[in-house]
Amino acid sequence: MEPAMRSLLEFLSHHTGFRLSYDRDAALTDGIRRAIKRAGISDVADYLSHIQNDQAAFDDLLAEVTVGETYFFREPDQLEALRKVILPEILSRKGRDHLVRIWSSACSTGEEPWSLAMACRTAGVGDQCRILATDISRESLQKAERGTYRQWSLRGPSRELTGSLLHQAVGGWQIDDSLRKHVNFEYLNLALDAYPSLATGTWGCDVIFCRNVLIYFDQKSIEAVVRRLYDSLSPGGWLVLASTDPSVTQMAPFELVEAGACFVYRRPLVTASPSPTVTVETQPFAFDEWVFDDEDPGLTDSTIVASGDVAIQAAQEALHEGDFERVRELTEARIDHPFATALLIRALAGQDTVKAEQACAVAVDRHPAFEELQYLHSILLLDLNRYREAEQAARKTLFLRSDLAIGHFTLGMILQRSGRTQDAGRSFRNAARICQRLPPETVIPLSDGEQAGRLLQMASQHLAMIGAGE
Ligand SMILES: C[S@@+](CC[C@H](N)C(=O)[O-])C[C@H]1O[C@@H](n2cnc3c(N)ncnc32)[C@H](O)[C@@H]1O
Repeated sequence: MEPAMRSLLEFLSHHTGFRLSYDRDAALTDGIRRAIKRAGISDVADYLSHIQNDQAAFDDLLAEVTVGETYFFREPDQLEALRKVILPEILSRKGRDHLVRIWSSACSTGEEPWSLAMACRTAGVGDQCRILATDISRESLQKAERGTYRQWSLRGPSRELTGSLLHQAVGGWQIDDSLRKHVNFEYLNLALDAYPSLATGTWGCDVIFCRNVLIYFDQKSIEAVVRRLYDSLSPGGWLVLASTDPSVTQMAPFELVEAGACFVYRRPLVTASPSPTVTVETQPFAFDEWVFDDEDPGLTDSTIVASGDVAIQAAQEALHEGDFERVRELTEARIDHPFATALLIRALAGQDTVKAEQACAVAVDRHPAFEELQYLHSILLLDLNRYREAEQAARKTLFLRSDLAIGHFTLGMILQRSGRTQDAGRSFRNAARICQRLPPETVIPLSDGEQAGRLLQMASQHLAMIGAGE
């Protein structure tokens, strides 16, 4: 194989985690050649540098090499398990008013997340469920957001199960508009370590659907993805894989549970001891490792800042290990201490968004000038789709700290979801500009370990998605 093509495949494999065998896979070969031709480039090395610098061209290539095959109510037993076993279990454990966070992590053209929204609605808990739907293919995400489908998306028993939540439209079908408030579509590449993260909303999930995507990854990527999905679940949270996906019990300490007519995975409610297979960034950073103006006193971050307070250090460790109960024990009586309060809010957020937001609202009243609490409040309000209040909280955060890249990024997400794409573009550009000034591996304050290079990439992806460019 020519060296340029090998480099192209290596780049592709690195960015997607895909198991690629160029020599043997004619479909892959044809797909890559089609994408190169569409770009109007004849030289493979030129094409490689083109896709490295042009997100839209890279997406175009991805659309050629990924399979977006999906349909409504695929594996109906799993959707039934969600309705009859998983949702009732979550609500009986966390309380009837708990906001259930569901993540459809390779949602393709949307049939899966819309089916999840329909299943929640017919289980009588539609308004209590928030579905985050992500995929690496921007083209698929755009189709998903449109919510219009052809008959092919309704194979098998699908039509019957969608009931009145799918309407006949010109040339096909249209999802009921009332479902839109439950589902948010975002770009996310499972092969990169951008999750769990507050910034991407991939934390404290009650349920994750990750079906028919692991099969495309190489073994190393599968293991890394599975460990990160484990970390993205709140204790007791559920992971649903397709029946044809590989078994993952050896990759993270999941329990295998029989749920109705199928098997699903579950993160244990109590973690006995931190598992060696579940690695969480625990490296402590000191203030002076951040890049600041000379006169700047430095930004505090409750999750990483060095502290002489033994209880706070223990709470930081417990949070890194996902032991939210322990964090609560250590911090609940310390509401006068902003770090302790921020750790408590983060632990609550891993368990229950509604309660975390309520506690955070009280906390920001008590410590209005502590930017981490304002930031956490903006994230929680965003998660609850309370965009106006979320925007206010994000703007307060940026008032306190105008160079906070993650604050600008979050404001961009809020404005994008509110439909204000021009304003969102400005915020994503601000985030990008701040990240560009930093070495790519710099950890961004308050961001759960997100690095400048990665956040820059995410901001660029959002800019491309809203068509704002950089
Ligand atoms: C076969 S579809 C699965 C759709 C749906 N989950 C289902 O089971 O019906 C696979 C999807 O995975 C997406 N995908 C592939 N690699 C990905 C990655 N690295 N990160 C996120 N999504 C990815 C593809 O774009 C495609 O939409």
